[in-house]
Amino acid sequence: MLYSKKVLKHFQNPHNQGVIKDADAVGEAGNLKCGDIMKIYLKIKKQENKKTKKQENVIKDIKFETLGCAAAIAVSSALTDMVKGMTLDEAMGLTKDKIVEELDGLPPIKIHCSMLGLEALRKAISEYKG
Ligand code: FES
Repeated sequence: MLYSKKVLKHFQNPHNQGVIKDADAVGEAGNLKCGDIMKIYLKIKKQENKKTKKQENVIKDIKFETLGCAAAIAVSSALTDMVKGMTLDEAMGLTKDKIVEELDGLPPIKIHCSMLGLEALRKAISEYKG
């Protein structure tokens, strides 16, 4: 199985790994295929959109904890980098394909791992929106 250089870099030095104790939202997802678990913590701030002057919910901080494989760790690391600073709606629009592209690909057998972080992120956002 061949991982891209980006996947290995994120796996060896994961970004945003850990816990946010006073998180505004937490999402958890499990992978039925392998039994691995992923938790995403969000810190959300209201911020005015300079163009529309409307208040938006923006992801100010994000961390993840996982009992997942190398691919799941690399995906979560990349995903957390990608969504920091996004509005909740933009983050909801992030797709598995965009993350895989950001990592210069994943071995086909590991594509299901990329869904774990995304699912946990979407659950955290849904929880926040109530
Ligand atoms: Fe379980 Fe990758 S094998 S998340």
